[in-house]
Amino acid sequence: MPTTDNVKAGDITKRVGVEVIRARGVDVDKLIKMLVANAAAEFASTYYYYTILRMHLAGHEDYKEICEDARLEDRAHFELITPRIYELGGELPNDLKAFHDMAGCRAAKLPDPPTAVNILTLLLESERCAIRSWIEICDMTIGKDPRTYDMASRILNEEIEHEAWFIELLAFERDGKSVPSGHFRRGEPGHAPYSKNAPFYIGS
Ligand SMILES: [Fe+2]
Ligand SMILES: [Fe+2]
Repeated sequence: MPTTDNVKAGDITKRVGVEVIRARGVDVDKLIKMLVANAAAEFASTYYYYTILRMHLAGHEDYKEICEDARLEDRAHFELITPRIYELGGELPNDLKAFHDMAGCRAAKLPDPPTAVNILTLLLESERCAIRSWIEICDMTIGKDPRTYDMASRILNEEIEHEAWFIELLAFERDGKSVPSGHFRRGEPGHAPYSKNAPFYIGS
């Protein structure tokens, strides 16, 4: 593909890094909007509310640990994707409430009553929303914007693991069934092997 980015030498109003992905068919404005919605979902819908959910899993130390991994990894997702928004020429709203209201997923507010089953159900559905949101970014960027695609697919890897964890815990807690996730908790809380490019498990 020819490079037709019209960025003149010394021009600081345009970015070759943006023009090349636009030339490959990415709707950059739409992508920025979706990334802000996803960043808001990571920070507000999950990281913040998962903090409250984890507090209410008292008495279930194993569930608390898994919830903590998911909580901290969602914060890692916010940290990973936010610089990309600015690189693309976008920004976060200068108002936390406005940011919260842009989130692409519903806030994971403490259910009433806050039983382990209700909390795990909420956690599961939040992870499912995250998977749906990040695969949309992957679909939009694959073969066109390798940098955003790489970040989104790393996040997606972890969201898919989070869903599997909560299916396993909910199946056990609600139905007394064994539905293995296929993996174990992280080596340390919020390890984020994909989004922090860290080794996978203890000792690896
Ligand atoms: Fe996340
Ligand atoms: Fe997650």
